[in-house]
Amino acid sequence: MTVKTATGTAAPMPKSGARAGQGFWAWLNKRMPVDQFLASQVTEYYAPKNFNVWYFFGSLALVVLVLQLVTGIFLTMFYKPGEATAFDSVQFIMREVDFGWLIRYLHSSGASFFFIVVYLHMFRAFLYGSYKAPRELLWLVGMLVYLALMAEAFMGYVLPWGNMSFWGAQVIINLFGTIPGIGPDLVLWIRGDYGIADATLNRFFSLHVAAVPLALLGLVALHLVALHEVGSNNPDGVEIKDKVGADGKPLDGIPFHPYYTVKDFVGIAVLLVLLAIVVFFVPNLGGLFLEAPNYEPANPVSTPADITPVWYFTPYYAMLRAVPDQRLGALLLLLGVMAFLFVPWLDRSPVKSMRYRGWMSRSALAIFVVSFVGLGYLGMQPALGIYVVIARILAVLYFLYFLLMPFYTRLDPVKPVPERVTYHAH
Ligand code: HEM
Repeated sequence: MTVKTATGTAAPMPKSGARAGQGFWAWLNKRMPVDQFLASQVTEYYAPKNFNVWYFFGSLALVVLVLQLVTGIFLTMFYKPGEATAFDSVQFIMREVDFGWLIRYLHSSGASFFFIVVYLHMFRAFLYGSYKAPRELLWLVGMLVYLALMAEAFMGYVLPWGNMSFWGAQVIINLFGTIPGIGPDLVLWIRGDYGIADATLNRFFSLHVAAVPLALLGLVALHLVALHEVGSNNPDGVEIKDKVGADGKPLDGIPFHPYYTVKDFVGIAVLLVLLAIVVFFVPNLGGLFLEAPNYEPANPVSTPADITPVWYFTPYYAMLRAVPDQRLGALLLLLGVMAFLFVPWLDRSPVKSMRYRGWMSRSALAIFVVSFVGLGYLGMQPALGIYVVIARILAVLYFLYFLLMPFYTRLDPVKPVPERVTYHAH
């Protein structure tokens, strides 16, 4: 199709928009490449046509990120940081502020939903080898997002200044004291006082509402840039860019918009229904999403019966408590998180997707999931007797998954990978 230019000659119609010719849109596009950006990133960005439910979780993570930012902004309007005011201001939000309870429960449940979504998102990468070349950087940036998310959740949990906020902060900040040499000074520097105090709460507030969200937004943007540079993987682990048609477009690709924008709305609807069920009917989820001791104000002279973090930290917390020596425990916790960073280079399998891997990789992944979930359960139980023994066994299995990966992924009897993605129309 052509359009008449000012000189009367025919020129090709701009690709992505009948709107581009005149008016505000043309004015805008002359000054900012909006159409060009939308075309390259959305309407002419080709994604594999065989995405399944596991591919919902990236966009769901974006939705939860926005939910946390919006509810967080409203909470900040009424929350008052400070030893003397924090707990009461949260009670005020829950009882007096119009819909304050809704905003607060959306934010507290949103934190747990964030981790559910991100853990499933990461698991998908293990299912389909999405961290393997050329997506190593995408994975590493994802890991930075995960670390920032953990920092954000930890500091947010301290803000209501409940008794678990106080004692949780005590346990976690003291872990930095196990670093040889600088440990004790570092702990003092982080707390800003000789104990967990007003100074600690105020700096956590500032980091939670400004610094870490900014870092998260920047990292998520980088994550998407890295994703769009190499393109998405898919359940077959076949690179769609390797098979292009005469028009240069991947034969197994479909434009992200409208096909996946529409599909993602289905996932978003399910997520919002589940979130609504939690928020309206079981906002504490039996102590999993909000713990009972946090309904009592922080009390430096009364420890909760058992100090446990929220469920998303408990696999690592179980590693910390699996050994009697605190320094070794802290090291295990650190290695437990950091092990994920090395996966792109530990995995030596010639194929990406579990669909074409053999029994070794499949069993290893299954054992890993059992160890992670099992440690998560044990991290919520008292660190006594049989619980500690099982935690040790599961921690060993957890680390063996990573340590033995270069071996079992090479020895694994893999199946032939098809040239094109497999897709059955519904
Ligand atoms: C705020 C958190 C995050 C957001 C908003 C986010 C967003 C996204 C989006 C929108 C996609 C494309 C859609 C999809 O593949 O599901 C994606 C892909 C991906 N993300 Fe994330 N992500 C987050 C955290 C993470 C983390 C923590 C990791 C791993 C450590 C990770 C690793 C990956 C990988 C490997 C892919 C490519 C998957 C494939 O193509 O098969 N992401 N992410």
